[in-house]
Amino acid sequence: MKLLVVGSGGREHALAWALAKSDRVESVLVAPGNAGTANEPKVENIPVGAEDIDGLLELARTAQIDLTVIGPEAPLVAGIVDRFKKHGLKCFGPTASGARLEGSKAYTKDFLQRYKIPTAGYANFSDIDAALKHVETCNIPTVVKADGLAAGKGVLIAHTREEAAAAVNLVMSDRAFGEAGNEVVIEDFLSGEEASFMAIIDGDDILPLATSQDHKARDDGDQGPNTGGMGAYSPAPVIDEAMAERVMAEVMRPTVEGLKQDGEHYTGFLYAGLMIGDDGVPRVLEFNCRMGDPETQPILFRLKSDLVDLIEAALDGELGNVTADWDARPALGVVLAAGGYPDSYNKGDVISGLDADSADNVKIFHAGTKTTGGNTVTNGGRVLCAVALGDSVADAQTRAYNLVDKISWDNVYTRRDIGYRAVAREHV
Ligand code: AMP
Ligand code: GLY
Repeated sequence: MKLLVVGSGGREHALAWALAKSDRVESVLVAPGNAGTANEPKVENIPVGAEDIDGLLELARTAQIDLTVIGPEAPLVAGIVDRFKKHGLKCFGPTASGARLEGSKAYTKDFLQRYKIPTAGYANFSDIDAALKHVETCNIPTVVKADGLAAGKGVLIAHTREEAAAAVNLVMSDRAFGEAGNEVVIEDFLSGEEASFMAIIDGDDILPLATSQDHKARDDGDQGPNTGGMGAYSPAPVIDEAMAERVMAEVMRPTVEGLKQDGEHYTGFLYAGLMIGDDGVPRVLEFNCRMGDPETQPILFRLKSDLVDLIEAALDGELGNVTADWDARPALGVVLAAGGYPDSYNKGDVISGLDADSADNVKIFHAGTKTTGGNTVTNGGRVLCAVALGDSVADAQTRAYNLVDKISWDNVYTRRDIGYRAVAREHV
């Protein structure tokens, strides 16, 4: 089989690597990919952008691609799967209408409420005056969210009414996130522990993937600005077997049933971002219509099954007949970022130590990298993710940081405490 992976981040490197391991796969094209995918056996980069749907369609047809797997949300929300299907091409992911679960937070809140799926109390506003009036009386702290896609930046936590009003103005009046701010969701602040629950969906059946947890804040102790994710590990001890069953019963199954009732045949990855409250209730913070980044890197590092088989089963509506087999050992990934991320940062710094992952049970997944003049250089905020398997989370953490410490460039930045909650749990 000939496969195409769309995207250029760490998630896409992990997807391409996992797919290329399949005996059934002859080659994997990645559009546009990064320096890591370029060097992967059986994998080749093609310079077509992840949002250039016409270009990707043309590529899939001329290269006679058997199956396309979409990494990021933007092409899904823009309808890449609808376009590929129309041309008779196999493409894994939800249609534009299914991808609204990520593309519109207001739609998703209404969906969750309609199907009684636990989530924070909320109100949606497309009128700024009504939104400003609401924050005069709503519960504080409160959370103001731009409705549309905002690259993970459109969520503002307000600790006072003034901050809440400023957030509404930033989103709806200043248009800090462009059209994503046509509407806002204002919701109650939830406390608890966050976890990610990802699954493959075939419209009907749900195949849960290994659980995981990421660290969204930039600095140690979960301090500092929010980022796309500074590290992740799998499994997430907060989702033990009983909690996983609760998440399936209270979130995942009602979601797929609700989608079906709405006439939505959702096929693809589905990611539920959850807040597990002190009351033990798993509440939905957000849905993503794709795998998480960096969660995908440790999750797929543990996958023993053939990912192509799982994806094909989902496309054929046969997910109920397959299971996923996981390495019992935990995996932990540390993101190596460019100093300054998520604000401004340098690009083009030469990276050294990239051959440090020749040992077993460790792997450097690339994200913002490219090759210039024989060197691998930084080309984004999140540059690499160093992943290791270990006998415990603590062991995986030690091994991952040993790998991190062999890699360097000017201004490399990492958190030093990825996995600290899980490690603390192992010590009690
Ligand atoms: P989202 O993109 O909706 O997941 O929001 C990004 C991050 O903001 C989440 O990972 C949480 O850390 C935080 N967040 C979002 N909604 C809430 C909420 N209702 N209460 C507390 N934190 C939240
Ligand atoms: N790591 C969070 C996300 O992928 O949305």
